[in-house]
Amino acid sequence: MLTEKEVHALLSGVEEPFLHKTLGELDGIQEIKIKEEKNHVSVKLLVAKTGTAEQMQLQGTVVNLLKEAGFETVGLRFEALPQDGVAAQEQPSLLNTKDTTFIAIASGKGGVGKSTVSVNLAIALARLGKKVGLIDADIYGFSVPDMMGIEQRPTVENDRIIPVDRFGVKVISMGFFVEDNAPVIWRGPMLGKMLTSFFQEVEWGELDYLLLDLPPGTGDVALDIHSMLPACKEIIVSTPHPTAAFVAARAGAMAIRTEHEVLGVVENMAYFESEVTGEKEYVFGKGGGEKLAEELAVPLLGKLPLQQPDWNEEEFAPSVYGEDHRLGKIYSEIGEKVISLCTQQQDHNV
Ligand SMILES: Nc1ncnc2c1ncn2[C@@H]1O[C@H](COP(=O)(O)OP(=O)(O)OP(=O)(O)O)[C@@H](O)[C@H]1O
Ligand SMILES: [Mg+2]
Repeated sequence: MLTEKEVHALLSGVEEPFLHKTLGELDGIQEIKIKEEKNHVSVKLLVAKTGTAEQMQLQGTVVNLLKEAGFETVGLRFEALPQDGVAAQEQPSLLNTKDTTFIAIASGKGGVGKSTVSVNLAIALARLGKKVGLIDADIYGFSVPDMMGIEQRPTVENDRIIPVDRFGVKVISMGFFVEDNAPVIWRGPMLGKMLTSFFQEVEWGELDYLLLDLPPGTGDVALDIHSMLPACKEIIVSTPHPTAAFVAARAGAMAIRTEHEVLGVVENMAYFESEVTGEKEYVFGKGGGEKLAEELAVPLLGKLPLQQPDWNEEEFAPSVYGEDHRLGKIYSEIGEKVISLCTQQQDHNV
């Protein structure tokens, strides 16, 4: 395996995409850490502009180089080069702010309730008095607008996109930008650009939390988000089936690769409780959430039973649980735990 010095030498020759000088010339290699037992290397690089498609390309180059050099997993973080000598950055973007906590809602497989959890956790945090944004990062399979019953579209003011406000949450989704539910056929770099513009062209204002509803699995979009938002935290949604441990392995590997901290696990569809007898039936098995939490060494933030929201004809939002609904209350508890976990961490960082 290469030493840190050798990794430095290897990366020194890579060209920074904006200034067309090598990372060595720019002194852009900030940190290299090797974990031998895990065959893992983590690297922090400086680039002229962060959160760009160019950064993503550079990321691909660097990851490939390091993997070819024999590392099994690669963690990458990017920061902006000091400004002198570098063209001034455009407007400050959310990507660089320290006041916003980013939380991605992820899972190892589809259909477990990521979007439902994202929507209801965002609303719970807003009910707890926080300023909250929600990005539907499922570019192909966007579902947030329908789930929240959003019929308006974002407006544009001074070339900035104003997100839609729904139940106190600022929402952006690809669904706002396609006509008649048409499928989205952009790929690769275009996808990354779309996500970048969700951050940079949207007028988010001040936010305490920005939640990201990820597409299923550990695909490209998830990786893009992870590289754009190095400090992003994650909540992993799982069903109670004991095979959730497999999911844990994948989600855990993803977190290591991207150096993201997992805040905790939410077990969804945990059981069905009969309204008549109050009896709980573990329809989808039992113990998966605990197992996953244990495997990742993180808290189990909550268990959500199977139940539909009460539908309100006047303000139709098919997937939103009311504040007094049994699940609405569980979401509030999860929200409180999330706030407390994130606040503790901020205190630690001081
Ligand atoms: N606790 C629950 N009780 C009843 N239905 C639920 C519950 N959680 C989610 N559902 C339903 O399960 C389906 C899948 O949920 P959702 O779309 O949130 O999953 P997802 O993980 O985002 O899926 P995808 O991987 O396709 O993005 C939806 O129809 C949703 O309404
Ligand atoms: Mg979804």
